[in-house]
Amino acid sequence: MTLRPLVAGNWKMHGLKASAGELQKIIAGAQKLANVDVMVCPPATLLADFAAVARGSRVAIGGQNCHSLPAGAFTGDIAAEMLKDSGAQAVIVGHSERRHYHGETDEAVRAKALAARRAGLLAIVCVGETRAERDAGDARAVVGAQLSGSLPEGAADFVVAYEPVWAIGSGVTPTAQDVADMHGFIRERLRSRYGEAGERIRILYGGSVKPANAKELMAIDNVDGALVGGASLKADEFLPIAAVYG
Ligand code: PGA
Repeated sequence: MTLRPLVAGNWKMHGLKASAGELQKIIAGAQKLANVDVMVCPPATLLADFAAVARGSRVAIGGQNCHSLPAGAFTGDIAAEMLKDSGAQAVIVGHSERRHYHGETDEAVRAKALAARRAGLLAIVCVGETRAERDAGDARAVVGAQLSGSLPEGAADFVVAYEPVWAIGSGVTPTAQDVADMHGFIRERLRSRYGEAGERIRILYGGSVKPANAKELMAIDNVDGALVGGASLKADEFLPIAAVYG
């Protein structure tokens, strides 16, 4: 089944108000890309500005994390409802940097994905093994456990992003065969848990996606788009990745 692809940019902790110019370039370029959903996930401080700039364009705006509860005494945290209120349409949950630097467990990630649903946001749920886990032959077991624990039950209304931790920001990517194997495995898991609806859940690949490797990576079976970090910060690098889908 061919799904409408999604190419999402994860700006991480990069970007100031002046970066709106880069967003404008992305918006201008994306106007011509009719066959792909394009998204930019800036830091929370820029969400409202970016959403205002992107309104009416083909570029959606997303957050990078959310709290599981709609409100409360949680200093520094941001509710999914607040992201929505800022103009976000989506939120990344369970990115490996959140899992590693903030100790987010599968259970916490699942609660965030459910919060996204509650707020009317598309959740992009990230999974992926470390280098040591892959070298030990545990990649499938690790990703399988993350899927079991992190995905929200019920509706198949979310996106999965497979991001091998060792490929993030490293310039190194798995072989096409390894990507095909893991995405096929994820697809099987989605099908067995969500039935036919599991066929329609988009599975993004993330980790050192660049203009130079995007075509090969996006052509792999069950790769329905990309989650792009470093290369999403510049329109000149991000647009060619989305343009793989014409
Ligand atoms: P990268 O990051 O493209 O810079 O490797 C991807 C991500 O962390 O989402």
